[in-house]
Amino acid sequence: MTPNDSSGRLTSGRIRPRRLRRTPAIRSMVRETAVRANQLVMPHFLLHHARGEEAISSMPGISRLGHDDFLRQVADDMKLGIRAVLLFGLPAEEHKDENGSGATLAEDPVLRALSALRREYDDELVIFTDVCLCAYTDHGHCGLLESGTVANDPTLARLAEVAVAHARAGAHFVAPSDMMDGRVAAIRDALDRDGLSDVGILSYAVKYASSYYGPFREAADSAPGEGDRKGYQMDPGNVREALKEAALDEAEGADMLMVKPALAYLDVIRAVRHNTHLPLAAYNVSGEYSQVKAAAEKGWLDEAKVVHENLQSIRRAGADVIISYHAREALQRGWL
Ligand code: PBG
Ligand code: ZN
Repeated sequence: MTPNDSSGRLTSGRIRPRRLRRTPAIRSMVRETAVRANQLVMPHFLLHHARGEEAISSMPGISRLGHDDFLRQVADDMKLGIRAVLLFGLPAEEHKDENGSGATLAEDPVLRALSALRREYDDELVIFTDVCLCAYTDHGHCGLLESGTVANDPTLARLAEVAVAHARAGAHFVAPSDMMDGRVAAIRDALDRDGLSDVGILSYAVKYASSYYGPFREAADSAPGEGDRKGYQMDPGNVREALKEAALDEAEGADMLMVKPALAYLDVIRAVRHNTHLPLAAYNVSGEYSQVKAAAEKGWLDEAKVVHENLQSIRRAGADVIISYHAREALQRGWL
């Protein structure tokens, strides 16, 4: 049956894989992987002002938006077919403190955006909110500090309060990105106690201590003042640990899991895919976006084709859902 002998030489002309690559119509018919608009999630950085658009220099094409401008952007994105958003809040400087209190104030940009989105679109849009403290703490860490280190258990109660606030305001899924142990269980219990059992949890279950988050930290002004995140985010050398984290979060009640970053961790996406029946998301992070943009600006890469190839790779590895800053342009400009 095999067309090749043991040295790989073609021994029979009968079987020729190239027949399936002969025309664009055949290739598209037998293509195994597709990237659909409703599998993409567009991230947003929300300013605390009503109006405003601040470009992020390391992320060309992405801006921090004031409330009204954000709503206009979502309306435009809906016309392109984007059906999901992930919200990050950028509180006023005076609302940053050691406990991240700003995340549950009525004037928080995420809480305001949630009510407005639900009023405008209700369930037509899938709304995810990032649940973390780093953009809201004056020290920039993802949890509460006790004598200089991030204290796991005291952080859980605070994260649960933030998640409940988001859920009450209308989030469909809360997405904890802090990497504290036990936070999915803590959030699930708090949501259920509050009568919010319909609100889901997308857990950033497998989140590495990656240098690809650099541009995001500029965008969200969330870099830690001192130290790094290696005491809570995962070591890039590990994959067994990814399966452990994924299994724990599933057991704690996560509805969806995430691997982050995506492109440098396609093997991890594949491994997690084979070890869970939950939907799997992958976060095509800021640095992965910025390097494509930079190379495209220099004329070194064809952006349209590279973005399609990257998104397709993430799907092929096993992700169902992709969070990507490329989502809008990919749909607007027909790259998929
Ligand atoms: C906050 C958070 C980060 C990202 C998502 N949520 C940054 C970090 O952990 O330092 C990264 C997203 C990106 O780089 O696009 N915990
Ligand atoms: Zn954080």
